[in-house]
Amino acid sequence: MEQLRIPGPTPCPNEVLQAMSRQMINHRGPQFGQILGDITAKLKQLFQTKADVFLLTGSGTGGLEAAIVNTLSPGDKVLSVSIGVFGERFGAIAEQFGAEVVPLRFEWGKAADADAVRQALKAEPKVKAVLVTHNETSTGVTNNLEAISSVVKEFDKLLLVDAISSLGSINLPVDDWHCDVVVTASQKGWMVPPGLAMVSVSQEAWQAHTKAKMPRFYWDFTKAKSYLEKGETPWTPAISVVFAFQVALDMMLKEGLPNIVARHARVGKAARNGIKSLGLSLFAEESHTSNTVTAVAASNGLDPKKMNKILREEHQVILSGGQQKLDGKIFRIGHLGWVTENDIKEVITKIKVVLPQAGFRSSR
Ligand SMILES: Cc1ncc(COP(=O)(O)O)c(C=O)c1O
Repeated sequence: MEQLRIPGPTPCPNEVLQAMSRQMINHRGPQFGQILGDITAKLKQLFQTKADVFLLTGSGTGGLEAAIVNTLSPGDKVLSVSIGVFGERFGAIAEQFGAEVVPLRFEWGKAADADAVRQALKAEPKVKAVLVTHNETSTGVTNNLEAISSVVKEFDKLLLVDAISSLGSINLPVDDWHCDVVVTASQKGWMVPPGLAMVSVSQEAWQAHTKAKMPRFYWDFTKAKSYLEKGETPWTPAISVVFAFQVALDMMLKEGLPNIVARHARVGKAARNGIKSLGLSLFAEESHTSNTVTAVAASNGLDPKKMNKILREEHQVILSGGQQKLDGKIFRIGHLGWVTENDIKEVITKIKVVLPQAGFRSSR
């Protein structure tokens, strides 16, 4: 069987796939209402929140757009903390909708520095919201969101979080860390096909929402809330993915969130140790490596594109390359969702075989 080890879409367990072959149901009927209620309650447990949580049909980027357009007005200043491709995207969405974006960029491979966020907020008192990526999938770095959040809340700003590749895999207690809008997506750690974005909305975010003037229709949280109260979504949902999601959430709760987080920590460590044992180095700074994606620097003559091609064609292992300026410079192993240490050890074994064929010369 193919080993799909990209940072999403991730493999889905058979029970999850089978749930998708069910016949359609009326999305305005009681059966769907019961499923939506059940999913929403379970999501709140995994988001560790008492706030509203909405299931939106769309990809993660749709969820990021929802976070922006529901809380901000054109001309609002936002601080966009960026450590890679997805941090840049979050800021670009805000800019597209007319926000005045103050970028706070860190070198790719490094985490955001909470003290630099403090200095930026001191220098820009008019900032209304701070945009942060919890886990930067493009570089394999996990930000210290707890520390960043405590700075953001020192200044009483709104905190909008891209947790697309972390939530449900890496600990993120949404309420304890005072995150106002948190976004994730089904195809990541949730073991479900693409098609759903999930967002939490705090009381402070609702207050901002009442004043937010950015244009919105499909993503309007007011509509999402009023429909959820009647057990519906405003628009036709991706029903098959919703069926799959219900099954996956049951599996997740059976395993238990602390166990899931611990498993990802073990798997992440296995990936990092395995990579180092091959004489390769991590792209991410050691103190902030991600437990859901490992980015590996191409060194010693390694052509990562060639390596990924051989792995795909001859070993049925699918890895990711680098994005944008990291194209050809790194490769990435996704290890989130339905994954064990053994899966990753197997991947490492195959990489070891392929490395010399892809130009790598061991310096040992
Ligand atoms: C951190 C992060 N943000 C945003 C996205 C974009 O999500 P989507 O591709 O579901 O729109 C991704 C997906 O790769 C991601 O990993």
